[in-house]
Amino acid sequence: MAAARALSRLAVRRTAVPAVWTRSFASVDPVSKVGETINPSRPAGPESKAPTVKEPAPEKGSKIKTFHIYRWNPDEPTSKPRMQTYTLDLNKTGPMMLDALIRIKNEVDPTLTFRRSCREGICGSCAMNIDGVNTLACLCRIPTDTAKESRIYPLPHTYVVKDLVPDLTLFYKQYRSIKPYLQRNTPPPDGRENRQTKAERKKLDGLYECILCACCSTSCPSYWWNQAEYLGPAVLLQSYRWIADSRDEKTAERQDALNNSMSLYRCHTILNCSRTCPKGLNPALAIAEIKKSMAFT
Ligand code: SF4
Ligand code: SF4
Ligand code: FES
Repeated sequence: MAAARALSRLAVRRTAVPAVWTRSFASVDPVSKVGETINPSRPAGPESKAPTVKEPAPEKGSKIKTFHIYRWNPDEPTSKPRMQTYTLDLNKTGPMMLDALIRIKNEVDPTLTFRRSCREGICGSCAMNIDGVNTLACLCRIPTDTAKESRIYPLPHTYVVKDLVPDLTLFYKQYRSIKPYLQRNTPPPDGRENRQTKAERKKLDGLYECILCACCSTSCPSYWWNQAEYLGPAVLLQSYRWIADSRDEKTAERQDALNNSMSLYRCHTILNCSRTCPKGLNPALAIAEIKKSMAFT
C-alpha cells in the first residue's frame, strides 16, 4: 500500500516536471524531451550528416537493433541537444549496453562521448539513463527484442559536459563536505590498528559497497529540485557509512552537520533511490537510520 502510494506520488511528480533550461552546460530532462528526441524526422546536427548512422554492412541473418542516443557538443553551444540514431547488428555486439556504445564509438561514429573504465560495475563512471532507468551501462543487458528501440541519455537533471557525460562537480563537492574519512582523536589502543568486533564490522555491510555512481541521487525528485542544499541519497548513504563506523569519534559532529531543514530532511521516502541502485544498495534505509540515530541522540 505504501509502495503504491509512493508510486502514485511519483507519477504525479513526473508529469509535473518543468523544463530545466540550459546555462553554460546543456541539461537533461528526459521527461520533457521525449517528444523531440524520438522524432525521426528531426534534422541531424553537424556531428552527423545523416539522422541514422548504420554499421557498414549488415549481413544476412543479422539482428539489427536501434539505439537513440543523446548528443550535445559544447563546441557548438548554439546547437540544441538532439538524439542521434544508430543501428547495430547484435550478432556482432557484446551483450551489454556498454559494449554497444564502445562498438558505436570504435566502428561507427568516433565523435560519440561517454565515460567508462572498469566495465564490471566497480568504477561507477558509465552511469547513465538507459530506457528510462538510471543504471551502469556495463551492467545493463541489451534487450534482445529488436522490435524495441533503446534510448540512452545522460543522468537526468545534471548539466552535461558532452553527449553522455554528466557534470558531477556538485556531487563530489557534496561528498567532500561530509568528510568521508575516519576521524579520531585517540590513537589506536595497540598503537597500530583501530579494531572492530565482527558485529561492528557487519554494520558497514550495504554501505561500503557504494561506488558513488550517482544513479540514486539523480533519480531522486527531492534532489532534482533542491540539489544546491539537499545532499541526496548517495552522499547521505556515505555519511551514514561513517556515522555507523564504531571506530569514528566524530558521530555527534557528523549528525550536527545534517541537523537542518535541507541537508537531510528533504528526503520524503519516495524510494526512487533504492529502486534504481545498480549495486542493490538501499540508500533510503541509510537515510532512515540517520534520522533514527538523530532522534535518539
Ligand atoms: S547507493 Fe547505489 S546508486 Fe547510489 S551512488 Fe551508491 S552505488 Fe550508486
Ligand atoms: S527516499 Fe529520499 S533520497 Fe530516496 S529518492 Fe526518495 S526522497 Fe530521494
Ligand atoms: S565501466 Fe566501471 S562501472 Fe561501468
